[in-house]
Amino acid sequence: MDNMSVSKKEALKKDMSVPVHVGVIMDGNGRWAKKRGMPRKYGHREGAKTFRAITRSAKEIGIRYITFYAFSTENWQRPADEVKSIMDLFEKYLDEVRDFIDENIRVRFIGDRLMLSPRLQKKMNRVEEDSKDFDSMTLILAINYGGRDEIVHAVREIAESVQNGELSPEDITQELIQGRLYTEGIPDVDLIIRPSGEQRLSNFLIWQSAYAEYYFTNILWPDFTKKDLENAVAAYNERNRRFGGI
Ligand code: IPE
Ligand code: IPE
Ligand code: MG
Repeated sequence: MDNMSVSKKEALKKDMSVPVHVGVIMDGNGRWAKKRGMPRKYGHREGAKTFRAITRSAKEIGIRYITFYAFSTENWQRPADEVKSIMDLFEKYLDEVRDFIDENIRVRFIGDRLMLSPRLQKKMNRVEEDSKDFDSMTLILAINYGGRDEIVHAVREIAESVQNGELSPEDITQELIQGRLYTEGIPDVDLIIRPSGEQRLSNFLIWQSAYAEYYFTNILWPDFTKKDLENAVAAYNERNRRFGGI
């Protein structure tokens, strides 16, 4: 699909169906830095700039929900100084994320935030609160997020509700589970983009991606541009989603 002819791309553009919810696995920062003989944290810094640019591009394209995978529950295994540099970047970017509020973008966070520093949590809660009425697009940042962790969290909550008699086992439906996930109220992801050449989910939105389409590219995240996002949307338009039907 990368080699789709220009005219075809133009044709698609006119009648392009834009995925409602796009997920992005921001991968390849470390390799990007290594190629330049720089420390990995330099790659994370560049990756954070790309995140800001692509958020704006997504809004321009008309995407309604975009989720960026920024830090997984497994990423704590990395060396402490790398984890610290990523956390420091979040803090800096949380201040800058406030700019998005001026652009009518709602900001939400998914993941277990209780493991993050109290200061970071406070900032996250405030950004969510201050942007909750905005509706041009919802920007979702997955920080200390893991799909399995999210399901465990939901199951614990449901078990408590059953234990204290608020729910009976028959009340447990897909909708009920969905409503207990961090992504409560957010539609399932339609398109998942993973740069850097890896072709795996790495514990991203595992419940929500049951019928997602995937777009993989070898570009490293810091090099990812609006054009690449458009290419992913064009590729999505070539897919025939059947959801089990015919
Ligand atoms: C993604 O880039 C950022 C995070 C996981 C926090 P990586 O740091 O995984 O970059 P590579 O995959 O090592 O190149
Ligand atoms: C996935 O990237 C997590 C994020 C981008 C936040 P990783 O680099 O951690 O994934 P693996 O280890 O290659 O599967
Ligand atoms: Mg990686």
